[in-house]
Amino acid sequence: MNIKIRLNKERKEYCNNWEISSCDFLNGGIYEWCEDIIKDKHCLFEIGVGTGISSKFLIEKGHRIFGIEENPECIKKCKETLSDNDVRIIERGEETTPPYSNYYEMEYHDFQEELDESQSIIIESDFMMEDVIPKKFPNIKFDAIICWFIGVHNMMGFNFNQIQRYRTTDTVDKEIYRQTLQCAIFEVADKYLNKNGIINLVDRGIVFKDKEKEEEWVKDYSERFIGDHPFEIVDFQSLVIDNPNKVGDGIKYHKKNKSGEFELVQEDKIAIFSMYIMKK
Ligand SMILES: C[S@@+](CC[C@H](N)C(=O)[O-])C[C@H]1O[C@@H](n2cnc3c(N)ncnc32)[C@H](O)[C@@H]1O
Repeated sequence: MNIKIRLNKERKEYCNNWEISSCDFLNGGIYEWCEDIIKDKHCLFEIGVGTGISSKFLIEKGHRIFGIEENPECIKKCKETLSDNDVRIIERGEETTPPYSNYYEMEYHDFQEELDESQSIIIESDFMMEDVIPKKFPNIKFDAIICWFIGVHNMMGFNFNQIQRYRTTDTVDKEIYRQTLQCAIFEVADKYLNKNGIINLVDRGIVFKDKEKEEEWVKDYSERFIGDHPFEIVDFQSLVIDNPNKVGDGIKYHKKNKSGEFELVQEDKIAIFSMYIMKK
């Protein structure tokens, strides 16, 4: 199949699937749970806004959003989701597919940056490719950088910039992609954040049966992801919820079977964790 057709198909599929999960999250009170930890943080830089449901929720809670999103199908959906809110949404990506190649290249067009004092904005941009916020709004500082449930469509491994910079494979190892993006936040967080600014990462996949294991995991995460950057994890919270639409993997853990051996089981539930990460 032609690369452009595949790209459009995967982008659309991702957007439609996420719309379903995101509605479940909204109706199941998950965004409420996520927001609780950042409720005193007004101006938020949201990395990967998806179809805009989380942004709408946050705006209606009184936050100001500077969001970015790389999937143009999601950006289109954001226009519908946020049609009743005072938000500027900027479409600016264009892909080229060089002849006889099996990759695509993205180019992002310039845009006019005037905004009212309190207005929110969502910009089509790839966080791994350009630093659009400091470039266009050099004086802005955020009270928090949030990155909730980062994920990506299947064609990201065919994006030339990703191949060059992050060497993702054709099929995109989504776990590696997620981790690479989360690491990249620590690289730039210092220049985006206010003095008491924080990073809030929310992600899926981990269940801890005891406090000691949880602390071990948080310590390991901190060493691998934060490294020498001047940040520390000061709060970690988790939650297990149903996964009614079976989007993504269920939780996996080891359980003793009848003959007393441990086996890996998967439940149709999702584990969610939220980390509150502060500048030291
Ligand atoms: C699973 S959705 C989560 C959306 C939203 N944060 C929420 O909680 O509802 C993740 C979004 O991150 C976007 N994304 C992934 N990589 C990105 C990048 N490098 N730059 C900008 N957005 C990205 C994806 O396109 C996707 O829409």
